[in-house]
Parts: sequence; structure tokens; C-alpha cells
Amino acid sequence: MRGGQTQTLVSNSPQANSDSTKRSTQLGPLKLTSPAVLAPLAGYTDTAMRRISRKYGAGLVFSEMLSGEGTRRKNEKTRRMAGFAEDERPYSIQYFATNPEQAADAAKLLRDLNPDALDLNFGCPVKKIILNQGGAALLKDVSLLARIVEAAARAVDIPVSVKIRSGWDHRSLNAVEVSKAVESAGAAWITIHARTRSEFFEGRAHWEWIGEVKSAVKIPVIGNGDVKTPEDAFKLLTLTQCDAVMIGRGAMGYPFIFREIQNLMETGNTGPAPTPRERLDAASQHLLWMTDFYGERRGTLEFRKHLIAYSRGLYGAARFKSQAMKLHEPREVIDLMRAFYESLPDRPIPRPAALVDQAPVWC
Ligand SMILES: Cc1cc2nc3c(=O)[nH]c(=O)nc-3n(C[C@H](O)[C@H](O)[C@H](O)COP(=O)(O)O)c2cc1C
Repeated sequence: MRGGQTQTLVSNSPQANSDSTKRSTQLGPLKLTSPAVLAPLAGYTDTAMRRISRKYGAGLVFSEMLSGEGTRRKNEKTRRMAGFAEDERPYSIQYFATNPEQAADAAKLLRDLNPDALDLNFGCPVKKIILNQGGAALLKDVSLLARIVEAAARAVDIPVSVKIRSGWDHRSLNAVEVSKAVESAGAAWITIHARTRSEFFEGRAHWEWIGEVKSAVKIPVIGNGDVKTPEDAFKLLTLTQCDAVMIGRGAMGYPFIFREIQNLMETGNTGPAPTPRERLDAASQHLLWMTDFYGERRGTLEFRKHLIAYSRGLYGAARFKSQAMKLHEPREVIDLMRAFYESLPDRPIPRPAALVDQAPVWC
């Protein structure tokens, strides 16, 4: 595979490419309503974030990464994290496994929860997982990685997909080799985060590597990395001809990105940005779903990172944030959010791409 940066686009105009971007998105047996899917994000994509993302148009949502071994041991926390609400469908549970037996046992147990798909993580760069020979460590042992996929795919009657990075480092860019191996092993589709393990989140994602994988396999390919705006999503789909795009940081506090992408694909225009009122509605709903799931106090505390993300870039956000950090009751947070959002002019306020989080070190 080649290194380097993104090449010139086929065209910058959504209308000019409407045929390629309007096609319906089929991932194995799943027909998606949108080619934009929510990434698995540990610490974020719990049931509340998944529901809000689906509400605003995400075509598919993934759980946070779960442990195959924890699943196998019937760990209660793992099971709870895997649970979901019906309005999340299509929903995929992501997990990591370090050997074929573990992968198959966990797959069967997760299948019992009745998700639409399972996803195996081979991209996580976190030291704890790598030392355990999980996540991106398996990119260095393609034969074992393929046996893990085969064991999981044979164990269940729902699609098993795979999420990888482009390779361990720039000297071992093997996404094409890994993709062909997992295709033969029975993976229903593959997501590629176009960075190496060594890059973590540094620099720009190398989208051309996604195109190379797309040309090499017949199974659907989801492109991932640095999609921060609807225009980015459009460019990635057009440039690489990938089947769908996955969005992580760009969806934090901004589920509207999914609506904007759908609008762009269908009409050539993103439609109006959310008004403060709409942001308030989405943030309040998100908080309520979190307190439903975690209970009032923990849900309110866990919501804080989302609250910051929802208000990022808006006038007065710093003061709002420092006030909100002192609150522990959902009612108080909703009242403060109402006062904050109602103080803003009642007109659409777009989010500049530069405001999308430069992520902490993760998968
Ligand atoms: C806070 C955080 C948590 C993440 N957790 C996971 C995870 O559990 N599983 C996974 O496959 N990737 C995880 N990732 C990686 C994302 O799924 C995605 O590949 C990466 O953020 C690049 O996409 P983006 O540029 O749209 O954010 C995580 C990323 C972040 C920032």
C-alpha cells in the first residue's frame, strides 16, 4: 500500500455524483437507511448515544468495545453494556477476542441478546489490550486473526464484521492482506480506520488506503477516520467508492451530522444547521435516556462529557460548562441547559469542523 495523503476527488459536487452516493447501502443482509454509521466509542456509545444517533439518521450503530472473555465469563457489566433498545436497530455489538474458542463462545452468548450483527475489533491500540494480544496486536498475526473471524462467523447466524486499522505501523501496512483474509474467513463486511496502530490519532487519516481495500475485496467496506462534516462523508464515499462511512468524534454532541449527511446525499444540500432549540431538545433527550439507563445521579455525571460536546463553540459555553459541572440532578441540568440555549439567537448555528474533538488516545 502507498503512504501519503488523500488524492484529488472525483468531483466536489454532490449533485455531480448523485448516482454513486444515492445508491442504497447494503451490508450483508442489512439494508441501511443511510450510508453514515455511528462508530463504536468506549465511554460514549452507550444506549443513549446510540438512540440519539439513530433518531437523527445514523444508518447503523455499534456498542462500545466489550471483552470476549468478559462475555464468556458472563460478566454482568459486560452484558448490561451489550443490551439495547429496539429503536437502536440496526445495532451491532462490538467485542474483542484473542483466540478462536473465546471468539465463538462470546459470539453465541452475544447472539442470545438478539442484535443485528456482531463486530470484531482488530484496531484497538490501547496498551492493556495489546499486551493481552488483542485489538490491533492481531494485525501482526493475520492467520490467527482470520481463524478468530472464522470461528465467530461459524458460531452464529447473524453477520460478523471486522474493524481494523491500516496496519501496525508504516512498515507493515497490511490492510489489503487482512481484508482478503477476513473475507475468506466469512466476515460480512470490513471497517477500516485509515491509520496505523502507531499513529493512534496523529495526523490525517489516509483515505486512499480505504480505496485500496475497497478495490481488493468483494464484501462491503466502511471507511473511517476524520469524517467531521457532511462534505467529508461525501468526499470519502466518492473518492474511495466505499459502501458506508463511520463517524466517531464528529458525532459527539452533534447527532445532527447524520441528518445533514442524509440531506446532502438526497438533495445535494445539508439543509439548515440545528437551532439552539433543536440542540436543547437533543441534549435533553440524551440526558433523559442516560438517566433511564444509569439512574439519575450517575446518568447526570456521565452526561457531563456530552453536555460539553453539545455546547462546544457556542457563545457563553465556557461559563455554562463551569456551572453545569456543579450539578448532580437531571432537573437542574435541564433547567440550566434551557437557560443557556434560550439565551442564544433563535437561528441555525452550524458547527465548524475545527471544533470536532482531537481525541484522547484510543482505538
Ligand atoms: C473516545 C474514543 C473511544 C473509542 N472507542 C472505540 C471502541 O470501543 N472500539 C473501536 O473499534 N474503536 C473505538 N474508537 C475509535 C473510533 O471508533 C474511530 O475508529 C476513530 O475515532 C476514528 O474515527 P473519527 O475520526 O470519526 O473519530 C474510539 C475512539 C475514541 C475517540
